[in-house]
Amino acid sequence: MMVCEYKPGLEGIPAAQSSISYVDGQKGILEYRGIRIEELAAKSTFIETAYLLIWGELPTKEELAAFEEEVRLHRRIKYRIRDMMKCFPESGHPMDALQASAAALGLFYSLRDLHNPAYIRDSVVRLIATIPTMVAAFQLMRKGNDPVKPRDDLDYSANFLYMLNEKEPDALAAKIFDICLILHVEHTMNASTFSARVTASTLTDPYAVVASAVGTLGGPLHGGANEEVIQMLEEIGSVENVRPYVEERLQNKQKLMGFGHRVYKVKDPRAIILQDLAEQLFDKFGGDKYYDIAQEMERVVEEKLGHKGIYPNVDFYSGLVYRKMGIPTDLFTPIFAIARVAGWLAHWKEQLAENRIFRPTQVYNGKHEAPYIPLEQR
Ligand SMILES: CC(C)(COP(=O)(O)OP(=O)(O)OC[C@H]1O[C@@H](n2cnc3c(N)ncnc32)[C@H](O)[C@@H]1OP(=O)(O)O)[C@@H](O)C(=O)NCCC(=O)NCCS
Repeated sequence: MMVCEYKPGLEGIPAAQSSISYVDGQKGILEYRGIRIEELAAKSTFIETAYLLIWGELPTKEELAAFEEEVRLHRRIKYRIRDMMKCFPESGHPMDALQASAAALGLFYSLRDLHNPAYIRDSVVRLIATIPTMVAAFQLMRKGNDPVKPRDDLDYSANFLYMLNEKEPDALAAKIFDICLILHVEHTMNASTFSARVTASTLTDPYAVVASAVGTLGGPLHGGANEEVIQMLEEIGSVENVRPYVEERLQNKQKLMGFGHRVYKVKDPRAIILQDLAEQLFDKFGGDKYYDIAQEMERVVEEKLGHKGIYPNVDFYSGLVYRKMGIPTDLFTPIFAIARVAGWLAHWKEQLAENRIFRPTQVYNGKHEAPYIPLEQR
């Protein structure tokens, strides 16, 4: 057997062949199924982009209408799931609530028919349709309110914002939210996608696949960074404090949240789009002093770290957009999950098409022939 060099975090080791998305970190290019992210953000919708990622091609008018309708009609969750969620502690993190609820779907839809295209489609539709309902339900229930039912007359993103805030959202806010979902739906072989593929490779059900990916996305090194950006901007507090804050953190060898990326060595193309969306929101609903702080921070960090390829990543401006929409900070990562579920499902489907169970090896560095010491002698 060929012995390979051990790479912590599997850095640089291909874990799959995939035609779902592509990143060029030097040029700042992100493509879904070959289409540039800028094109999709300007012209597509989240539901259309989800279809593209999962089925590999842009849908025809009829295919899109059928998919939209199926998702629309599957938004409701079973009352038993709702009642189960009512028992969750309100102090719990919404990502933990989402992971438990996604896994619970598997109890209700326990048929596992992975070779049947109708089963694949059904599972895709159910997960894309119900994850937002479960996120919004937990948000209302932890405040002591009953969840509101989805509204079939509203589009995907508008309906989520309606379920979250119990009022119909502004059209521009709903459109911008939908673009945010497009920007977060897929990003090659990141930790949660890898997790989804490993779970998928055991041929378990898609609810377990999504639940394991949600658990992986929840960590601060992955989906949680956008929450920390807002905390950092609040801590800085004013434009004048930006330079001393950055200098002090760099002196103490501390990371600046929302900057840098393992792959991108230029400004993340998603950050460029998100910054523009944030400006559109501020134009309509009034400015935000944290945006002024953020812009100054981008200038100072570029001056200090631009030569190392450290620029704003996707998390730097997304929090400002969600904050302006009145979304609580601890829902930022569940919203990331609402988007990413379509990416995970695309990888689930791709994994099943050419499955081999993941079974990497290890470099054993423990003892051999160790004695068993009787309990009374230890
Ligand atoms: C995303 C991240 C983990 C990538 O890390 P990485 O690939 O190990 O970064 P690199 O090793 O290529 O970094 C190169 C140099 O830039 C520095 N650097 C990277 N990100 C930095 C940041 N956010 N703030 C300050 N310095 C940073 C590193 O310390 C390193 O410095 P050195 O050469 O003096 O040792 C890292 O940039 C980070 O922790 N960013 C903040 C958290 C964040 O926003 N995460 C969301 C990612 S989408």
